[in-house]
Amino acid sequence: MTTTVLRHVGELTTNDSSVGDCGPMGRIFDAAMVVDDEWVLWVGPDDQAPSADESIDLDGAAVIPGFVDSHTHLVFAGERSDEFEARMAGQRYDGGGITRTVQATRAAHTSELESLTRARMTELFASGVTTVEIKSGYDLTVEGEARLLEIAGTFSDEVTFLGAHVLAPEYAHRRDDYVALVCDAMLDRCAPLARWADVFCEEGAFSVDESLAILSAASEAGLGLRVHGNQLGHSGGVALAVELDAASVDHCAFLSDDDVYQLAASNTVATLLPGAEFSTRAPYPDAARLVREGVTIALASDCNPGSSYLTNMGVVIALAVREMGLSCDEALRAATWGGARALRRDDVGHLGVGARADYVVLRAPRAAHLAYRLGASLVAETNRASRPPTLEP
Ligand code: NIG
Ligand code: FE
Repeated sequence: MTTTVLRHVGELTTNDSSVGDCGPMGRIFDAAMVVDDEWVLWVGPDDQAPSADESIDLDGAAVIPGFVDSHTHLVFAGERSDEFEARMAGQRYDGGGITRTVQATRAAHTSELESLTRARMTELFASGVTTVEIKSGYDLTVEGEARLLEIAGTFSDEVTFLGAHVLAPEYAHRRDDYVALVCDAMLDRCAPLARWADVFCEEGAFSVDESLAILSAASEAGLGLRVHGNQLGHSGGVALAVELDAASVDHCAFLSDDDVYQLAASNTVATLLPGAEFSTRAPYPDAARLVREGVTIALASDCNPGSSYLTNMGVVIALAVREMGLSCDEALRAATWGGARALRRDDVGHLGVGARADYVVLRAPRAAHLAYRLGASLVAETNRASRPPTLEP
């Protein structure tokens, strides 16, 4: 395997506190990094760089770990910009538009869904994302959810079954029957195609009791758990996620003190989705408080056609810094190391020796430019370590 040394990295963020400044960002200034096709082999000061087969001089550019976008709904057809416009004019988001996307997605050919998903993957990759979680949830039938998971699985191995996104329209007056369908036939068909299961635990979607039933069945089927919780109100989703040791509870826009303390004492990551607050004109959660209280946080795009049609992690970071009270470093760490924690992965989200060689070269001397230069195209190169070909965007 060919080895490459990146020389004269102005600011290398490793997220490995055993190197460089030995802080949480594991920063090394005027650094070098040696990688092969798959792994990080060495990091350290440039003047100690070992030789390698190839050498690339980055001339002072910053390098960061590839972003880990741990929450997306990439497989869908259609768009809902009319709802966005209505919200900007004052209308409230209640998730009601999800069924419009369900109709459009059911009607789309598989090849169309594949090419739409590929295009969104390409946008994420261009913004520096190297690991992507992808949920189903826009079909809500047994075979249809399986179709979406199969498509997702051609792009990522972080695939999430979200049959419990909202009640399928055919079951509008038969809630219990839909919950039973998700727990039985849908899960039987879909569990082999996914790593995770997720539930939208919210008024207008699924109650705590229904979510508990679905997540318990999913756990028995061998899936790891995630929860959409406390997006629109105090839904009880956070407490449920902690109780079930879910890997993450996502949104967390409405948190009681008790929710915060429970999260801090748990292994459940609070995943924050500032694109959703932006796009639904909702109040942003106080991420700075979560960090202060010792909660592990992640930042993700939540890319979906309703509440956050966003494929740029630089913008996610900028919003989190400006609107959620995070420092530039805290936001970067949440979008890399935090995302990896939310997926319970330790091979990505950092550039310590032994990590996957997933890194981003910025057209900037410092990573803080991601927030500082809002909207600029700062990614000079996204390097995704080689994996099986199905995982390439
Ligand atoms: O994470 N909240 C539930 N699901 C998505 C939105 C889906 C949609 O509006 O299409 C979310 O915000
Ligand atoms: Fe979501």
